[in-house]
Amino acid sequence: MDERYDFGLTVIAEAGALALSFFHDLGSLNVTEKGPQDLVSQADRETEALIKSAIAERFPGDAFVGEETGVTTGSSGGTWVVDPIDGTTPFLLGMTSWCVSIAYVTDNDTDFGLIFAPATGDLYAAQRGAGATLNGQPIHVGNATTLSAGSTGIGTSNKTTLEEIIFMVTGLHTAGGMLYRVGSGALTLCYVAAGQLVGYVEPVINSWDCLAALCIIREAGGRTSPFLEEFGVAGSGRLVAGTPGAYEALEALLP
Ligand code: IPD
Ligand code: CA
Ligand code: CA
Repeated sequence: MDERYDFGLTVIAEAGALALSFFHDLGSLNVTEKGPQDLVSQADRETEALIKSAIAERFPGDAFVGEETGVTTGSSGGTWVVDPIDGTTPFLLGMTSWCVSIAYVTDNDTDFGLIFAPATGDLYAAQRGAGATLNGQPIHVGNATTLSAGSTGIGTSNKTTLEEIIFMVTGLHTAGGMLYRVGSGALTLCYVAAGQLVGYVEPVINSWDCLAALCIIREAGGRTSPFLEEFGVAGSGRLVAGTPGAYEALEALLP
């Protein structure tokens, strides 16, 4: 496991450097639309290709789930779950709130999660049972027991309905909370782990957006909904994460 964790740290640094080189030359990027409000560029594709081929070379029996290339089955029992760029919209707009997200899963549990935000140099990391860190320093969720104690991240995508948005925003406002959104679910979840936000909710999020960050939040003392048990390594569905004391209030934000 440590071998894969150390390898993950190396590969996320290389992937982040590649994505950052595209970020510094956005004008030359070829961007296409996968759907409404869902863009993809050469940066997403090439960053995933780098991670995927490095894993295939070093751990050929491992399975792989990536946003851009889908599911590749394996024989080892381990699965890498990768979003090469979470926060593609801010990335393409030249904003810093994007990251590379890598989780490693065995036996329906996440062994480690790594999230690197190259534009700021921040690396969030956690191994199950070993705590969570930001740039090597331990991090911990906050101690909020109510939504009025701080800000809460709300995720939306082209899969979110207007009714769901109205329900979440009405609930948050009524509870005296504040809405926080930067366009990267993975990074916003890391802000929960670092004690900066009360929590995060999203009606439909993908495994590659959240599995690494959920491991980081749990290791930082937070509570998360059982995403992996409910939806699997390549699934999508509802997500609640936050401080243990505010978890039930966060859960009530989803219809
Ligand atoms: C999206 C972002 C967004 C979240 C969506 C994700 P992408 O990922 O994380 O914040 O609300 O559910 O799909 O498209 O930037 O990789
Ligand atoms: Ca994503
Ligand atoms: Ca992505």
